[in-house]
Amino acid sequence: MAKLLATKPLDTLLKESQETGEHSLKRALGPINLLTLGIGAIIGAGIFVITGQAAAQFAGPAILFSFILAGIACAFAGLCYAEFASMIPIAGSAYTYSYATLGELVAWIIGWDLILEYAFGAATVAVGWSGHLRAFLKDIGLGLPPMPSSNFVLFGRNVHLTYDYVGFLVIMAITTILVIGIKESANFTTAIVILKVAVVCIFIALAGGFLMKHNWQPNHWHPFIPANTGENGHFGWSGVLRGAGVVFFAYIGFDAVSTAAQEAKNPKKDMPFGILGSLIICTVLYILVSGLLTHLVPYQELNVPDPVVVGIRVTGQQWATFLVELGAIAGLATVMLVMLLGQSRVFYSMSRDGLLWPWASKIHPRFRTPYISSIVVGFFVAILATLVPLSVLDEMTSVGTLLAFVLVSAGVWVMRRTHPELNRPFRTPMVPLVPILAILFSGVLIIGLSPMTQLRLVVWLIIGLAIYFGYGRKHSKVQNALANNRPAGAPQRSMAD
Ligand code: ALA
Repeated sequence: MAKLLATKPLDTLLKESQETGEHSLKRALGPINLLTLGIGAIIGAGIFVITGQAAAQFAGPAILFSFILAGIACAFAGLCYAEFASMIPIAGSAYTYSYATLGELVAWIIGWDLILEYAFGAATVAVGWSGHLRAFLKDIGLGLPPMPSSNFVLFGRNVHLTYDYVGFLVIMAITTILVIGIKESANFTTAIVILKVAVVCIFIALAGGFLMKHNWQPNHWHPFIPANTGENGHFGWSGVLRGAGVVFFAYIGFDAVSTAAQEAKNPKKDMPFGILGSLIICTVLYILVSGLLTHLVPYQELNVPDPVVVGIRVTGQQWATFLVELGAIAGLATVMLVMLLGQSRVFYSMSRDGLLWPWASKIHPRFRTPYISSIVVGFFVAILATLVPLSVLDEMTSVGTLLAFVLVSAGVWVMRRTHPELNRPFRTPMVPLVPILAILFSGVLIIGLSPMTQLRLVVWLIIGLAIYFGYGRKHSKVQNALANNRPAGAPQRSMAD
C-alpha cells in the first residue's frame, strides 16, 4: 500500500523541468502565446452552441447566473492550478502535480481521468464543428455528402449509428499540425484566437449597440428566472444550477495551459498569467454574450446549433452573421488543437515516468514533438468523434475535468502542509479555504450531472486501474527506484535518450 502512495520526488521533477537538448520539449511559448492558448481552448462549443441550448432547456435568461456560478467554481480551481503550474513547471498538468503530492496511484487515476477531459473534449468539439460546418455550407448553397449510417442489434437492442466522417477528418488534420511542431501550433492558435475573440466582441458591440439604439428593445428578460416547471432542473433556481453544470463545459480549457508548462519560456511568471488571464477574459465575455443574447431573442428560440448566429440576425447585419459563422468554425478548431496538445503531453509525462509504454514519450528528432503520442491520440479521438453521440461525449468531458479540479485543489492543500518551504512564485490565496471551495463547487457540479455519466466515470476508472496494475506499476521508475534502494531523486532518462 505504501508503494502505491509513493510520490515522485520534487527535485526530480524540477530537474526534468530544466532539461534542454534535442530530446526535450522546446521552450518556445511566451506569455501571450500562453494566454491565447488558454483562450483558444476555452471559447468554443460552450459559448457558440451550448449556451443557447442550456438557456432554452434549463435556465432561461438566468443562464447569466449559471455562467457566474460556473465561473466562480473555475476561479477557485484556477487559483489552485496557477500555484502548481508556477511551482512545478513541467508538462503533464494535474497528473504531474498529483504525482508529487498525493502519490502514484492518485497520479495514475488523474492521468487516466484527464483522457476524459482532453480526448473526449476534443471529440465533443469535433462533433460540434462538423455540425457548424454543415450548417454554414448549407447556408451558402453547398452541401456535403450525407453521413453514412448503419443499423445493428447489440445486446438485444437496435442500435442506429451514424459515422461523422467530417469529425474524423478535422481531428486528423489538427493532429498533423501538432506533429509538425509546438511553435507552429501556437502561431496557428494565436491567429485564430484573434479572429474568435474579434467575432465575440463584434457580437457584443452590435447587440449592445442595437439595444441601446432601440431603447433596450426587444427585451426578453421578463421573466428573468422562468418559473420551475415542476421538474427538478427545469427553470427556477434548480434550473440555474443545472444550467451551471451544463455551461461549465464552456470554461473547460484554462487548465490546459498548464500542460504546456514545459514548453513555456518563463513558466514561473507566465503560467499564472496564462491560466488566470484567459479565465478572466472569457468569464467577462460569456456574461456579456449570454446576457445580450437572451435579451435579444426569446430563450425558447435558442435551442439551435448556432444560437449566437440567431442573435446576430436580430441586429439585421448580414455581414456579421457570415463572420460569426466563420469565427465559430475557426474558433472551434483551436479548442480541438489545445485539447489534443494537452492529451499528448499528459501521455508523454506518464510514459517518461514508466507508467505508460515508451513509445508515448518518443520525441521526433526534427520537430521536437511527442509525435507517436500525438498520432495515437489523434486516431483515438477521431474514432470517438465519428461514433459517439455529442451528449455522451460532453458530459464525460465535464465529469473528467471536475474530478481533476477536485484532486488538484486537494493537492495544493496537501503540498502546503508537506512542503511549506518550497518556492511558490504564485500562491493560491487563503489556503485551505480556496481549495476547499474549489472541491465543494466541483463536487456539486459532479452531483448535478446525470447518474449514467457518474457510472461511466466509475467504469472508466476501473479500466484505468486494470492497466495500472497490469503495466504501470511494474514499469514505474519511482517504484523501481524504491525497489533498488536508489536515492529517490536519481536522475531519470527519457525513453528517447
Ligand atoms: N470550453 C471549450 C468549449 O466550449 C471546451 O468548446
